[in-house]
Amino acid sequence: MYKEQIENLKKELDGLFTNINCKSELEDLKIKYMGKNGKITSLNQLIKEIPNEEKKEFGMHVNELRNIFNDNYITINNKLEEAEINEKLKKETIDISLPATKIKNGSPNILEKLIEEVEEVFMSMGYDVVDGPEIEEDKYNFEMLNIPKGHPARDAQDTFYIEGEEILLRSQTSPVQVRTMLKGKGKEPIRMICPGKTYRRDDDDATHSHQFMQIEGLLVDKNISLSDLKGTIDVIVKKLFGDDIVTRFRPSYYQFTEPSVEVDISCFNCKGKGCNICKKTGWITIAGAGIVHPNVLKMSGYDPKTWSGFAFGFGAERMAMLKYDINDIRVFYNTDLREIRNFDRRED
Ligand code: DAH
Repeated sequence: MYKEQIENLKKELDGLFTNINCKSELEDLKIKYMGKNGKITSLNQLIKEIPNEEKKEFGMHVNELRNIFNDNYITINNKLEEAEINEKLKKETIDISLPATKIKNGSPNILEKLIEEVEEVFMSMGYDVVDGPEIEEDKYNFEMLNIPKGHPARDAQDTFYIEGEEILLRSQTSPVQVRTMLKGKGKEPIRMICPGKTYRRDDDDATHSHQFMQIEGLLVDKNISLSDLKGTIDVIVKKLFGDDIVTRFRPSYYQFTEPSVEVDISCFNCKGKGCNICKKTGWITIAGAGIVHPNVLKMSGYDPKTWSGFAFGFGAERMAMLKYDINDIRVFYNTDLREIRNFDRRED
């Protein structure tokens, strides 16, 4: 009797899955056949009535039915899942015409950027980029630059003293000239630039800062003249501000150069006509420079009869302020990200 039941169920299973179109229909079938009271599960209740010698065979038949159901179930389930994924993919097409979300990158500090540009130009002319201490000795910062104790030129460079009167925060990068000459003997020509921080006891305002940066330069060789200096300055000016910019030297006075000059460039903004940037003069001062004073050469062990050189000092913030049209030096030091992003835009 059970054999007939099993045979009928087998026939029923055949073709049972062909019309299943969705997962809920499939789950209904599972409950109907394999659930607690499902058609296949309930076959187990017959076991009591089956003679012992036939129980094994009966069990095998029931298992066969189970396997048939499960195999079909898995096949159809996989098919339905695949169809579901394909359907989803069809609906969720990616719109590649949408602009991507912009990732905010950090920006290099604008001063560093300018300094790197200057470094590259000088390196291409064979200069070394050197470093010097920010905590400096009076000897290098003043004395060996021909500014003895009590010299009135010290007033303009009042700085911060660390220990007594001998150790100070350097008021200029010029002491690196001395340090380089002392180290460089026998390796002439000396060609170096030194970008670095400097300090002065200034009250901070739009054009003054107690901390600022200079880019020092020194060349020591034989037969060096002002025209060498002018040619060199010309290269860097044209690179930074444009090929049409003209350089002009004005007589000036520094204790460590003789003759000394102020370096002016023709205003890149108004091309010399006169505007706010050049204060209507058509010219902008960007550096101090000159021919290295014989005393300075002598103090560092160079005989001025044989050796000569030129030196220059740029104000880094001043150059950046001109180049990027910034009207307050404090912008470089107050870490306002909005300003830094502004610089990025100005670069575009
Ligand atoms: N050290 C000077 C200053 O801070 C700038 C300067 C002028 C540097 C002339 C030089 C130079 O090397 O030759 O005002």
